[in-house]
Amino acid sequence: MAAAAPKPETLAAFEAAKGFMPVREGLALYAAAVEAGALGLPLVEIGTYCGRSTILLADAAREAGTVAVTVDHHRGSEEQQPGWEYHDPTVVDPEVGLMDTLPTFRRTLHKAGLEEHVIAVVGRSPQVAAVWGGKVGLVFIDGGHTDEHAGGDYEGWAPHVAIGGLLVIHDVFPDPADGGQAPYRVHQRALASGAFTEISVTDSLRVLRRIAAGI
Ligand SMILES: C[S@@+](CC[C@H](N)C(=O)[O-])C[C@H]1O[C@@H](n2cnc3c(N)ncnc32)[C@H](O)[C@@H]1O
Repeated sequence: MAAAAPKPETLAAFEAAKGFMPVREGLALYAAAVEAGALGLPLVEIGTYCGRSTILLADAAREAGTVAVTVDHHRGSEEQQPGWEYHDPTVVDPEVGLMDTLPTFRRTLHKAGLEEHVIAVVGRSPQVAAVWGGKVGLVFIDGGHTDEHAGGDYEGWAPHVAIGGLLVIHDVFPDPADGGQAPYRVHQRALASGAFTEISVTDSLRVLRRIAAGI
């Protein structure tokens, strides 16, 4: 069976949005989200930034009759701060002098016509995870890329993934020459736990299914 694909207008909105998700990986994320949506549980993203990948989760949530929840403090990751490789000066709040991706994110979602399918949570991932009450169909980890942050995302959110639900991890690079190792270490940890099995690999995007309790 062919993987589910987003509508042309969703794909166009995704491609027009500011952000870090390449198209091939975006299509794999969308297919995973549609599959997980069948559980009828929320689809959770850690790392909203300006909403590029959120568009795909929102469209899949709409198709499934569920909701996408996206979590970010909107102050940017380490590598997005001034002077670093991924800094974008257009997402700095001139009044407070800090990054603020929330206004751009809101415009992205509005333009895509997907606002009503998304709950945006502004906060730190571990704090939000600690007060989160129920099971989720999918967790997409694309937040901070240090061991502290990626590990915290895993520890906070993986326990909420329902049996049969999906854990999706971005920027998994087995070879250190290709990129930072924190998401890869989370990926290795999930597999070593015996609670998850890998079901797809698309470039640096890995999709794992929960097959047993634990992390
Ligand atoms: C790589 S970007 C996300 C890219 C986005 N998914 C896309 O498709 O363009 C990472 C985001 O994670 C957020 N972030 C980093 N650490 C976080 C934490 N501990 N809690 C919440 N958000 C965090 C940053 O503010 C940043 O916007």
